[in-house]
Amino acid sequence: MYTQTIPADSQTDFAADVRVGLSKPGQKELPSKYLYDEVGSALFEVISALPEYGLTRADERLLRRHADAMVNRLSLPALVTELGSGSGKKTRWILEALSRRQATAYYPIEISPSALARCRQELSQINAVSIVGVERPYLDGLLEVAARRGPAEHLLVLFLGSTIGNFDREPGLQFLKQIRGILTPGDGLLLGTDLEKPSPQLILAYDDPLGVTAAFNLNLLARINRELDANFILAQFQHEARYLAAHQRIEMHLRSRVPQTVAIPRANFEVRFEADETIWTESCHKYTTDDVLSMAGRCGFECEGQWVDTEWPFAESLFVAR
Ligand code: AVI
Repeated sequence: MYTQTIPADSQTDFAADVRVGLSKPGQKELPSKYLYDEVGSALFEVISALPEYGLTRADERLLRRHADAMVNRLSLPALVTELGSGSGKKTRWILEALSRRQATAYYPIEISPSALARCRQELSQINAVSIVGVERPYLDGLLEVAARRGPAEHLLVLFLGSTIGNFDREPGLQFLKQIRGILTPGDGLLLGTDLEKPSPQLILAYDDPLGVTAAFNLNLLARINRELDANFILAQFQHEARYLAAHQRIEMHLRSRVPQTVAIPRANFEVRFEADETIWTESCHKYTTDDVLSMAGRCGFECEGQWVDTEWPFAESLFVAR
């Protein structure tokens, strides 16, 4: 068993994205991927343990209970790769089930080196599993992993935790189509999706009484202060979670409590906020099981199996490339 990391080619230009997002006329925005620096990723781990946020536990419960059934439906041998492995905790169940059938190579794809390190630490003890971390954006990483497979090997792509829900619907479909474009018939995609639930329950999950999600959201401004020398005063912004029934999504915003101007020297600009103006920082889409089936069909997959958690409605769906 060995581990190795393929390093990232280039850093995303944080300053340019901040400038573009905060200069937008109308609704200001920041890309949600920037929520996940070291502090943000640690706060997300805490969110995952909150009683109000059942998503991660449901995901893990389904994998723990049904990993064998999932793996039984795959064409083997298969390489396993995961888009955004996070800590790797819930992946253990799939890797253990697979390693009882074959020696398994696992390629977690992550832009965060510290998440890759945690994932390696969590999973490196599983027998007959080798881990190669890929420090790349998702699709670049997936292309790289696909190029490494042997002639008779299939790919199993894990896209867990309802990360697809953080894409807008149409770009999400495009993303699944791009994944499909890299796969060959018979390859699998295990997709985790959070299902619809009553809006008060969703609001609590994204605006918890302990304030962890608020800290997770506000950390984005703290990150801009740390990395771009900005002077955001965090107490002058407030976390807000809204449920938009028409779009089946939660939106996270940061609301400016007062009129204010913030300087962001390393992005070379200043931004003006009116009182109550918000920055839209993340969308978290919710699905029905039928939505997921239709996504499979529209993106060139067959849905071979779907497992649903009843305690916290969440679906694990096994798509197989047609
Ligand atoms: C990572 N992602 C699936 C989480 C979600 O629920 O959409 C991110 C999150 N944002 C606030 N709480 C959790």
